[in-house]
Amino acid sequence: MEAVQGAKVVVTGAAGGIGAALARRFAAQGAQVVVNDLDADRVKSVAEEIGGIAVPGDASSAVDEARDALGGRVDVYCANAGVGRDGGEPGEPLDEQGWALSWDVNVMAHVRAAHALLPDWLERGAGRFVSTVSAAGLLTMLGTAPYSVTKHGAYAFAEWLSLTYRHRGVKVHAICPQGVRTDMLTASGSAGRLVLEPTAIEPDDVADALFRGIEEDRFLILPHPEVAAYYRARADDPERWLGGMNRLQQQWEATR
Ligand SMILES: NC(=O)c1ccc[n+]([C@@H]2O[C@H](COP(=O)([O-])OP(=O)(O)OC[C@H]3O[C@@H](n4cnc5c(N)ncnc54)[C@H](O)[C@@H]3O)[C@@H](O)[C@H]2O)c1
Repeated sequence: MEAVQGAKVVVTGAAGGIGAALARRFAAQGAQVVVNDLDADRVKSVAEEIGGIAVPGDASSAVDEARDALGGRVDVYCANAGVGRDGGEPGEPLDEQGWALSWDVNVMAHVRAAHALLPDWLERGAGRFVSTVSAAGLLTMLGTAPYSVTKHGAYAFAEWLSLTYRHRGVKVHAICPQGVRTDMLTASGSAGRLVLEPTAIEPDDVADALFRGIEEDRFLILPHPEVAAYYRARADDPERWLGGMNRLQQQWEATR
């Protein structure tokens, strides 16, 4: 693909799952890829496999090192690293750390990367920011307030970036899948089994959807197309949508 051939690409959270699938796809299309993850061993082996460069560590502090490794320029930045925390049950202490971590990784890492990359992108009139959000960023995920709230934040930030800079050559894509067969889905417990697993797709399907979206120059990437109808239903009739989601919550409670 012309937009990707020879591009300098960074993918965070790329030790496995969706990030590794995106990194493999960019490399297969002729991009030069830096992969980042907290899991140094696994991200190094992904880098080796795809002929890329590993920059292990926290996604928030990896931008400068990744840019240096790519010779001073980043064309595509995939803010993919994410955490799913449940926030604590009523009656338990509030999981302040889980909330703070969710904000930091799911939202602020995106903000920090964009802040570091935009001056160069605006000067060159080119740059691409890919945000792995979630359908939870358009709808809401049962049982996890920090994930739902911060994914809404990630979506809002991607939307803001897109509307603010699209006339200046910056392209933004927000990927909003439901269940994807990764470690995060396995860790999502009974809510994930009820809501996500029945329609779960593979990480490669997410890469397919992103590359179709790049080709078609689309902001909103929906690897599960049915999410468009749920999103419309939520906007059209919030009361009815909340009633339906609460029935799902009750179904979940009955199975726990
Ligand atoms: N699996 C799903 O069902 C699903 C659905 C929608 C959206 N997502 C999103 O997809 C993205 C990738 O998740 P995945 O499903 O591939 O799960 P995953 O657990 O395989 O991948 C997440 C990766 O992020 C890394 N990571 C966590 N915090 C980090 C940090 N601070 N810096 C660098 N790396 C960090 C982890 O080590 C892990 O390798 C996440 O943003 C997730 O919210 C997943």
